[in-house]
Amino acid sequence: MSKYIINGGAALDGSVSVDCAKNAYLPILAATILCEGQVILNRAPDFVDVKNMCVILEKLGLKITHQGDVLVIDGASANPKFVPVDTAKLLRSSIFTLGAMLGRFKRARVAYPGGCDIGQRPINIHLKGLRDLGVKITESHGTLICDASDQHGGTIMLDFASVGATENLVLFSVLGREKTTIVNCAREPEVVDMCNFLNKMGARVYGAGTSVIEIEPVKKLNGTEYTPIPDRIIAGTYLIAGAITHGRVEVKNCNPANFTSLIDKLRNSGCILRVKNDKISLKSPKTLRSVGLIETQVYPGFPTDLQAQMLVLQALSRGCCVVRENIFESRFKFVPELIKMGANIDVHDRTAFVEGVSALSGADVVAKDLRGGAGLVLAGLCANGYTTVHDIYHIERGYADFDKRLNELGANIRREV
Ligand code: EPU
Repeated sequence: MSKYIINGGAALDGSVSVDCAKNAYLPILAATILCEGQVILNRAPDFVDVKNMCVILEKLGLKITHQGDVLVIDGASANPKFVPVDTAKLLRSSIFTLGAMLGRFKRARVAYPGGCDIGQRPINIHLKGLRDLGVKITESHGTLICDASDQHGGTIMLDFASVGATENLVLFSVLGREKTTIVNCAREPEVVDMCNFLNKMGARVYGAGTSVIEIEPVKKLNGTEYTPIPDRIIAGTYLIAGAITHGRVEVKNCNPANFTSLIDKLRNSGCILRVKNDKISLKSPKTLRSVGLIETQVYPGFPTDLQAQMLVLQALSRGCCVVRENIFESRFKFVPELIKMGANIDVHDRTAFVEGVSALSGADVVAKDLRGGAGLVLAGLCANGYTTVHDIYHIERGYADFDKRLNELGANIRREV
């Protein structure tokens, strides 16, 4: 298993560019199933999850050519093959193939998806929405067997503004027979980006970014070229890395309007942030202040995907902070590892009570999931001495060249196999 070995203590100083967003790229890759023509996707990030999604698409008959970081995807020979459990468990986003295959072929067979172990992650909202739109679904030995030959439109309501369910139901509806309206949709920028991509292929999706999305069906989608949006979580991770090491970091090629909630918290910590178009720079103070309360929320609230990184910052800030995780029920698995490094944190159910300490000390810790793993790397960057972060395959699902980019900012981190 690969690991990072970090010699902590260096203040980060420099500039870093952000990849395209994992959580936009993955549903967009699934959306290519809907198109019989050729799609060109630019700036493919070197994330394990993106590679695995390409593997799934190839198993479904799509042809993918890699030209540098450009993916050329030909959907002409796609077919609704069974997505078995060993493929589906590669990543959570395998579930998007369900909406897309049902949309194009009106039938699909998919095993339940895998993904980071951050909670139960049921797909009941996806399935209820599909059933409400006329899909017959039978579940047998962990496989969903779906028939959309009686697909219809109408207005459906999501019990919770789930990102994945919103995306899956839009994917299903673009090649439908009647107008579909989805109420209580997720408003995340990645949902908007997937809808923009669909519209660029000729779909008629209206209202993305609001809580009501309307889809007027079209007969077919055309090939296109597209560059998905920058990753707001990676941008945020590098900003927090700058803050926690008392450094100065400039993050380029990002969209600061998509992470206002983080910018606000970092300013409350005492950091100075300057936004200019697609760049944001951060200068950290000598002493970081606790922000008092962090509650994860659906967009535009504070993102659950930055909770771990921000909690680590609180562990090293003056004062006490309450961190409440409202989205996933098991996103504090990194906390016992952080406590090994000297953090002072009590977790009760979905709330962490953090009392800042003046320093952490390096230790052997294990990444349990993607964002918690990134949080442990940030802790290692400012801890005294050496920190080894094991099981970094979790981190590599959503961060490319993490060690290289941190070293370019002045960190001392190496990857060992
Ligand atoms: N939920 C249900 N039933 C459903 C769907 C969701 O109960 O049918 C619950 C989940 O269990 C969870 C909550 O609703 O408690 C939110 O889930 P949501 O469906 O919104 O999230 P997701 O689509 O599974 C995406 C991102 C996550 C990100 C969340 C929230 C992708 C591929 N994943 O997950 O990203 O945390 O939205 O913003 O888009 C990550 O990148 O590390 C990551 C986990």
